[in-house]
Amino acid sequence: MKNAIFIKLFFVLIFVTSENLFCQSPLITGTIKRKTETLNGKWHYIIDPYESGFYNYRYQPYDEVEHPGSGGYYKNFIQTDKSDLIEYNFDKSPTLLVPGDWNTQDERLLYYEGTIWYKKSFDYLKDNSSNRIFIYFGAANYQADVYLNGKKLGRHIGGFTPFNFEVTDIIKDTGNFIIVKVDNKRKREAVPTLNTDWWNYGGLTRDVKIIEVPETFIRDYFIQLKRDSKDILSGYVKLDGNNLNNVPVEIHIPEAGIKHTVQTNEKGNAEIEIRTSKLTLWSPENPKLYDVTLKAGQDIVNEKTGFRTISTGGKEILLNGQPVFLKGICIHEENVLRGNRAYSKEDARMILGWVKELSGNFARLAHYPHNGYMARVADEMGIMLWEEIPVYWTIDWENEKTFNNAKSQLKDVITRDKNRASVIFWSVGNETPVIEPRLKFMTSLIAEAKKLDNTRLISAALEQHGLEEDRNIRVITDPLADYVDVLSFNEYIGWYDGLPDNCENIIWKIEQDKPVIISEFGAGALQGFHGDRLTRWTEEFQEDLYRKTLDMLVKIPQLRGTTPWILCDFRSPRRPLPVIQDGWNRKGLISQTGNKKKAFYVLKNFYNNFELNK
Ligand code: GCU
Repeated sequence: MKNAIFIKLFFVLIFVTSENLFCQSPLITGTIKRKTETLNGKWHYIIDPYESGFYNYRYQPYDEVEHPGSGGYYKNFIQTDKSDLIEYNFDKSPTLLVPGDWNTQDERLLYYEGTIWYKKSFDYLKDNSSNRIFIYFGAANYQADVYLNGKKLGRHIGGFTPFNFEVTDIIKDTGNFIIVKVDNKRKREAVPTLNTDWWNYGGLTRDVKIIEVPETFIRDYFIQLKRDSKDILSGYVKLDGNNLNNVPVEIHIPEAGIKHTVQTNEKGNAEIEIRTSKLTLWSPENPKLYDVTLKAGQDIVNEKTGFRTISTGGKEILLNGQPVFLKGICIHEENVLRGNRAYSKEDARMILGWVKELSGNFARLAHYPHNGYMARVADEMGIMLWEEIPVYWTIDWENEKTFNNAKSQLKDVITRDKNRASVIFWSVGNETPVIEPRLKFMTSLIAEAKKLDNTRLISAALEQHGLEEDRNIRVITDPLADYVDVLSFNEYIGWYDGLPDNCENIIWKIEQDKPVIISEFGAGALQGFHGDRLTRWTEEFQEDLYRKTLDMLVKIPQLRGTTPWILCDFRSPRRPLPVIQDGWNRKGLISQTGNKKKAFYVLKNFYNNFELNK
């Protein structure tokens, strides 16, 4: 008896002391073709700036106190007697569309930073009584506390990565209600921290769906070409459930003549290594995708997957062993025509269609993991991608929770996108300061990325500076340059740093024998505002800066790619200049109304005519 009490106390102690333990289930990959039911659509919402639906008047969370009474919105109390005292009612509250940021769905919420409660009722009939049920969120910015039928499933922190909870023992055939407390308050210790140059869109910003899987299922798998090999597919498969030992897992890639079986170990894991000589490698010119199917017991996972190699050799970036120049552009996760968060396959097709129009083959998904459709559409369209976690500017480098948060976001985006051929870079940050705690933080993230996936390139957007004795001589002395595969840095000569004519005086002294990508350059322009090339904010100023910058950059012998800042104008509270900005960063090549600025054609022309080593 004593033991039983001890064990119970032990588990209660762990649950209460850890935010994430016993909460989220490990992320399920390969969800696209699974049996799912969407929870997208209208959700009732309650704005709760004082979080009175979460804390009692002693500021104790209702979901952690012994006698919460009628408090706690997550209980969704319904009035049954005329004397009942309930001071909220989801079903009489307004609705928000999910997926979607809340900021642009109700003008009261444009600048809102705080908590909003979402609630949706639904029925769900399982296909098979022994199956397991998960609820999967594409993302929620920034912190989500999730409840089903009044029971807390857990908390997720991080605004741009997916998460899921198992609800097998809680979900009912009818009358379910899911309630999510989403809080987008910026915090010093968060990732990103308090200051960014983008809009703090809050809410259930991506798809929400129910996933039904067999009792034992394929939770995760990785199949890509082994590093530096063109004929060995390698990776792993991870099962979740019971009786995991010695389970045969079949891997079918019919068009490549592959039908291979592996056996799992006692943990349900198996390594994969398959020799093949018949693969057509994925590339921008030929974005070949194979039908890949994995079968384990009752479970089947099926996805379209491309196979290619990406590596470096001296100053070359090698795609399938051939030198490539990355003709890119930076992108924020916004549908510029709607002026809000992008979230759908159609959004991804529009945005990446503009990259194609630019004659681009590459996109830097700044500054955080974008929705999962981007990598899938990029796979189809033959556009290579740089994916990044929001270790942006000056975060709380010496805070262990901050590091674990960044590490968790890195792990989640790698878990989600590691089978997408289009993804060739994992980036661990942007414009971070050259100080010791940051170097330790970033090199630890690089080590983590390499451990999770050694088949892709690692980078980060660094900063350059001029020599004391001659500011026109520009160098990269950031020690992090020694840890990345490709040396990427941002420069704003001609915008924040002198005027465009200064470009012709610049001498780049880059000592590193590595490929170089200019991960940002650019200028603001209000589309339709015209004048001479020295008039700030005209299209002519931006056009002239692009011309002079490109002439300057091609002199860098290691130059192997550019991702100018940025494809489209985007919302930012840092940009209030009336008439010109009005809360928008105007460095886009495409305006809020979808019109292309003159600089768009300068870059398009450059990409059309640029040839490596010419
Ligand atoms: C910085 C930063 C971007 C920002 C841009 C700008 O380099 O990386 O996030 O939007 O410059 O100032 O417009």
